[in-house]
Amino acid sequence: MIHATLHQLKVFEATARHGSFTRAAEELYLTQPTVSIQVKQLTKAVGLPLFEQIGKRLFLTEAGQKLLDTCQEIFAGLEKFEMSVADLKGMKQGQLKLAVITTAKYFVPRLLGPFCKQYPGIDISLKVTNHQRLQESMAANEDDLYIISQTPTQPDLDVHPFLENPLIVLAPTGHPLAHKKNIPIEMLNDEPFIMREPGSGTRKAVELLFDEHNVKVRVRLELGSNEAIKQAIAGGLGISVLSQHTIISEGTSGELDILDVQGFPIERHWYVANVAGKQLSVVAQTFLKYLLDESPAMAKRLLPGLGSTSLNSPDSTPEHDHEALENSRPTALKV
Ligand code: PGA
Repeated sequence: MIHATLHQLKVFEATARHGSFTRAAEELYLTQPTVSIQVKQLTKAVGLPLFEQIGKRLFLTEAGQKLLDTCQEIFAGLEKFEMSVADLKGMKQGQLKLAVITTAKYFVPRLLGPFCKQYPGIDISLKVTNHQRLQESMAANEDDLYIISQTPTQPDLDVHPFLENPLIVLAPTGHPLAHKKNIPIEMLNDEPFIMREPGSGTRKAVELLFDEHNVKVRVRLELGSNEAIKQAIAGGLGISVLSQHTIISEGTSGELDILDVQGFPIERHWYVANVAGKQLSVVAQTFLKYLLDESPAMAKRLLPGLGSTSLNSPDSTPEHDHEALENSRPTALKV
């Protein structure tokens, strides 16, 4: 076995991540010569170069890449061990890495408040991003738990549905279709439309429905933010399709109307997922249980317009959840 200290491995990992001795030194509050000496000693112990320098940047060699993978496994294992020890001592502590799609950014922080109060030893890292980037994080095994609306085929996931996430058509108040009932979807043809960016799960679901019905909206603007889309609708730039969660928690502003279009709401829901086969840390297991237990009641309190049925059974499948989703139709909501 090579003779390397944990400290050397940490210095190496930071150097590899930054591609720079100087930046690793800054992160670790060490001097630059200390970092390069530690890496030199580690290189000697391994017996092969770990980096090659091109210009100012350091690149990993094949041996360096293998060592980096090993370091990440060791650090993750140690972190998990620390959490298990804390659990044995009757404390829940450690870090929870959560990554959620954009629509969940309204609900999840509200759930995290009481969770953190109950478990003050747990630190949370919350990443909010679109479907595609979340899928990339899953593939790179970057986080403990993910909240998604569409389950990708890759990587293999353990998924638990927990709350409905319907997509609705939003228009500016006073839109000619605003008070019509059961509007045929074809009437959206040629409507100026504000679309989420490529890679967005919302966009994918909308495109699928429009394709099915051969609807061709006029995409006037592409925006990577639900909030910006709401402002653009209110500003009269067009209509859009967004998750009901984007409007439901903020109270009424009177600037938007929900259009009662056939085929809407697009019935979807959120799943909490973890990469299959990855052993969840005690902290991640604690949050998973909390989320599945507490979401229904919290949704009832915070999101009464979303419907009262929540999908909290770990065994339920999208097919079984159909009835629950039916209850979430946002027919009478005006914002
Ligand atoms: P998106 O996902 O941010 O990728 O559009 C939202 C959702 O699928 O609910």
